[in-house]
Amino acid sequence: MVEKSCEKIRERDEVKGKVLRITIRCTSQFRLETEDGRSYTKFVRYAVVTGANKGIGLEIVRQLASAGIKVVLTSRNQQRGLQALETLKASGLSHLVLFHQLDVADATSVTSLAGFIKSKFGKLDILINNAGIGGVIIKDSDLLIKVIMSRGLST
Ligand SMILES: NC(=O)c1ccc[n+]([C@@H]2O[C@H](COP(=O)([O-])OP(=O)(O)OC[C@H]3O[C@@H](n4cnc5c(N)ncnc54)[C@H](OP(=O)(O)O)[C@@H]3O)[C@@H](O)[C@H]2O)c1
Repeated sequence: MVEKSCEKIRERDEVKGKVLRITIRCTSQFRLETEDGRSYTKFVRYAVVTGANKGIGLEIVRQLASAGIKVVLTSRNQQRGLQALETLKASGLSHLVLFHQLDVADATSVTSLAGFIKSKFGKLDILINNAGIGGVIIKDSDLLIKVIMSRGLST
């Protein structure tokens, strides 16, 4: 089920106490009503950043959240991911960022994140596939078997 809780925020003229603008803020959209009765809707956008516990990925999370986008900070290691989330609290962005574990080389982990996004947001607007996975071509079949036997099919 897509989350749809809403709150109504009234901005008042400090001197006259008159309501200038009412903002209805929901998890999936904002509706703005101005003093003269005009209203418009702004939809919240959702993003996922892979490999976001450090480096470029973490900075992308920071910048997307700064632009008002709801971001899922993902990391293959839960502890490193949650630590990264902590660093964003200091920037006052933690309400726009949430954590979910994701190892891009693990199909079960990818499926789990997809299910989370579908149930929590019902859509995904931006995918930043930042986690770089190095690839190698092994032409020697004996060596290939040795590598698979020792390391499995993923790193
Ligand atoms: N920095 C540069 O100058 C530069 C230049 C060109 C391209 N790039 C590319 O830009 C991307 C980010 O670079 P960076 O410098 O920020 O790298 P980084 O500091 O090494 O960070 C890489 C991130 O990817 C994560 N990661 C690695 N394997 C993963 C997997 N299987 N599943 C999920 N996450 C995984 C790492 O997690 P852990 O902490 O768990 O290892 C880390 O969070 C990379 O794809 C890199 O190839 C960077």
